[in-house]
Amino acid sequence: MKHRLAFIGFGTVGQGFAEILLEKKDWLYNKYGFDYNVVAISDPLKGAVYEEEGVDLKTILNYVKEKGKIDEYPRGIKGWDSIKTITSTNANVIIEVSPTDIKTGEPGITHIRTAISNKKHVITTNKGPVALAYHELSHLASTNNVFFKFEGTVLAGTPLLNVGLEALRGIKIYEIKGIMNGTTNYILTQMEEGKSYTEALTVAQKLGYAESDPTADVEGWDVLAKVLILGNVVMGGNLKPKDVEREGIVGISKGDIEEARTQDKRYKLIGRVWREGDGIKAKVGPEKLDTREPLAQVGGVKNAISFFTDDLGEVTIMGPGAGRKETGFALMSDLLGIYKSLCCQC
Ligand SMILES: NC(=O)c1ccc[n+]([C@@H]2O[C@H](COP(=O)([O-])OP(=O)(O)OC[C@H]3O[C@@H](n4cnc5c(N)ncnc54)[C@H](OP(=O)(O)O)[C@@H]3O)[C@@H](O)[C@H]2O)c1
Repeated sequence: MKHRLAFIGFGTVGQGFAEILLEKKDWLYNKYGFDYNVVAISDPLKGAVYEEEGVDLKTILNYVKEKGKIDEYPRGIKGWDSIKTITSTNANVIIEVSPTDIKTGEPGITHIRTAISNKKHVITTNKGPVALAYHELSHLASTNNVFFKFEGTVLAGTPLLNVGLEALRGIKIYEIKGIMNGTTNYILTQMEEGKSYTEALTVAQKLGYAESDPTADVEGWDVLAKVLILGNVVMGGNLKPKDVEREGIVGISKGDIEEARTQDKRYKLIGRVWREGDGIKAKVGPEKLDTREPLAQVGGVKNAISFFTDDLGEVTIMGPGAGRKETGFALMSDLLGIYKSLCCQC
């Protein structure tokens, strides 16, 4: 079966995934027997195109690179918005890569709800819908007999959710804690090298690690979304944003970093989820870690998460937490997971 893919959003991650699909097309077919057509792309500024038999992805990517738009692509139906693209194309897998809004989850929640209600599989890297509506959306997916996958929402393509849900099946996870935001980890690492918070933030912005408005990162909102996902998906909780104490790194001074150094400690922005009684608790905030701890050794934009378990003790996974292809790969992994599951049902 040839999968028919539709992209909702075609920014950094969407294009990164499209490049992977294109570069690996023959290899994916030879190795896994996996084949696909991209039938539609819908993005508010770049434009939209639908071609039932599949678009020429290489040409589309060239249009985006050269003109920032796909409007002049010479074939197909143009101008369909995201909802029309989800409901009226022949796509069977919707790739939801629109921006994250951690306060409302929109437009992602509506996109995903619509896709699943129309019996389409969804793969996404959008944190908002998973952080705020995981239980509703996963229940909807199972009643509609489709897959809803989102590996890239935590640690991008570094395998984390699949490890927690599948590889660690049968083990008791007591706590998950980690560095889940590369921007803030970079800033803290730079501060250890002597920069002030403002100087470090400016460097991070120059290098493209931090947005011009860095609020979501430095005030801990991004980590809050990831902690909600870990708490609700991996630990089986039902946490809401209001249940999670959240503090960013804005209040950390050069003096705090120096003082920690004299104690053989290091500040990290830590997201943490743990079992307490029958419930799940979570917290986001800066913590002083002993320099010998695995998480304390993780510098720069790298991310790492430790699972604390009964039979394995501490299991730490480290890798990139963002990036065009690094996040695109998570979509690849989810897509192949759906393909494999559907093949097994045949
Ligand atoms: N970049 C990463 O490394 C990374 C890592 C992990 C997770 N993620 C998540 O992955 C998602 C995509 O990230 P990204 O970096 O590709 O973001 P991005 O570059 O901002 O791309 C998002 C795209 O979605 C479009 N869009 C906005 N509203 C839309 C709508 N209603 N329908 C369809 N498209 C819409 C945007 O168009 P306009 O430009 O016209 O607004 C933009 O082209 C986000 O949710 C992000 O949080 C990203």
